[in-house]
Amino acid sequence: MGLGLLLLPAVLALLCGREAECTDPDIMTNAVYMTENTMILTCNLSANSFVSGHRWLKGGKVLKEDKDTSNIMTYNVSGLPEEGSGQYICEFLTTPNVSKVVNVSVSPQVHHYKATEHGNEGDTGVLTCKSSSFPPVTDWSWYIVSPNGVEAIGNGSSDRYVIKSSGNQTVLRIHNLDIENDQHDYTCNGTNELGAKGDVVHLHVRSRLAALWPFLGIVGEVVVLVTIIFIYEKRRKPDEVCEDEDSATGALKSNSGANHDTLRQRNSN
Ligand SMILES: *[C@@H]1O[C@H](CO)[C@@H](O)[C@H](O)[C@H]1NC(C)=O
Ligand SMILES: *[C@@H]1O[C@H](CO)[C@@H](O)[C@H](O)[C@H]1NC(C)=O
Ligand SMILES: *[C@@H]1O[C@H](CO)[C@@H](O)[C@H](O)[C@H]1NC(C)=O
Ligand SMILES: *[C@@H]1O[C@H](CO)[C@@H](O)[C@H](O)[C@H]1NC(C)=O
Ligand SMILES: *[C@@H]1O[C@H](CO)[C@@H](O)[C@H](O)[C@H]1NC(C)=O
Ligand SMILES: *[C@@H]1O[C@H](CO)[C@@H](O)[C@H](O)[C@H]1NC(C)=O
Ligand SMILES: *[C@@H]1O[C@H](CO)[C@@H](O)[C@H](O)[C@H]1NC(C)=O
Repeated sequence: MGLGLLLLPAVLALLCGREAECTDPDIMTNAVYMTENTMILTCNLSANSFVSGHRWLKGGKVLKEDKDTSNIMTYNVSGLPEEGSGQYICEFLTTPNVSKVVNVSVSPQVHHYKATEHGNEGDTGVLTCKSSSFPPVTDWSWYIVSPNGVEAIGNGSSDRYVIKSSGNQTVLRIHNLDIENDQHDYTCNGTNELGAKGDVVHLHVRSRLAALWPFLGIVGEVVVLVTIIFIYEKRRKPDEVCEDEDSATGALKSNSGANHDTLRQRNSN
């Protein structure tokens, strides 16, 4: 037992020397919400070692550093609950450097890209939900919200539904879309150790014909234009041709007349 107690600090010192995210027992951490969106993190180093500065890190990036010698360091977290959540590291620059991880955890912040998603009848509808908050979502589920109530979509409860979930994202594919059966609100629901939260997306299913309408409209416009041009040309052509012929023959006549005259003059000469 005595030996164990003697060895413990040595083992911890070894771990701290090698790993940046080493957890030092001499650092007390505290996280206090100031508002709904802001929080103050505090690390308090109780060991009596000389401090030459502090660093706050998150996701491998340095958020803040200073050269204060205080044994207390604080950081103001903003952007809660979403971007602000995550794993923060407070590091005291001592010999060796010591640090501790401070988890800023929130219930899952779940989002769908758009409030409404569109799909054509017979095609595959794709609904995607994401969560970038900490801790990560461990379970995803999808529900159909219809006037009949809320119905869970099991993966494989019907061949038409396929759910693929990976960490911070879940994708629901609905094959062979049908206007009557699939045009609903859908809820994606993410769960982590702090709770569950969802987002709603409306799926709008367009009929095949509706998808064709813009195309038919353009075709119709082209047909009308071509017809108008055709009729106009038909009505215009005979007049123009007559005029052209008149002037052409007139010019010819006068030319030939002039030629005749010169010829006659030459002949008479
Ligand atoms: C920091 O820790 C020391 C010793 O554990 C304690 O006396 C002191 O009150 C703490 N300071 C703060 C601001 O929590
Ligand atoms: C952090 O927040 C506290 C309390 O809201 C405030 O007094 C302090 O000035 C803030 N510090 C910075 C660097 O914004
Ligand atoms: C402590 O961290 C600082 C800043 O990254 C670095 O310059 C220094 O070499 C580190 N000291 C030790 C003993 O690892
Ligand atoms: C911080 O979060 C990580 C990952 O979820 C977890 O393994 C670790 O135990 C947490 N640490 C604390 C002090 O809650
Ligand atoms: C989701 O996770 C992947 C890989 O783990 C990452 O590249 C991506 O940026 C994450 N997306 C969000 C919204 O957090
Ligand atoms: C759902 O089923 C598909 C195909 O069977 C599979 O690839 C996918 O991983 C499953 N998703 C979940 C969340 O079980
Ligand atoms: C999400 O799922 C959890 C458990 O899986 C449930 O308790 C909660 O009511 C669901 N939330 C929504 C919005 O569907």
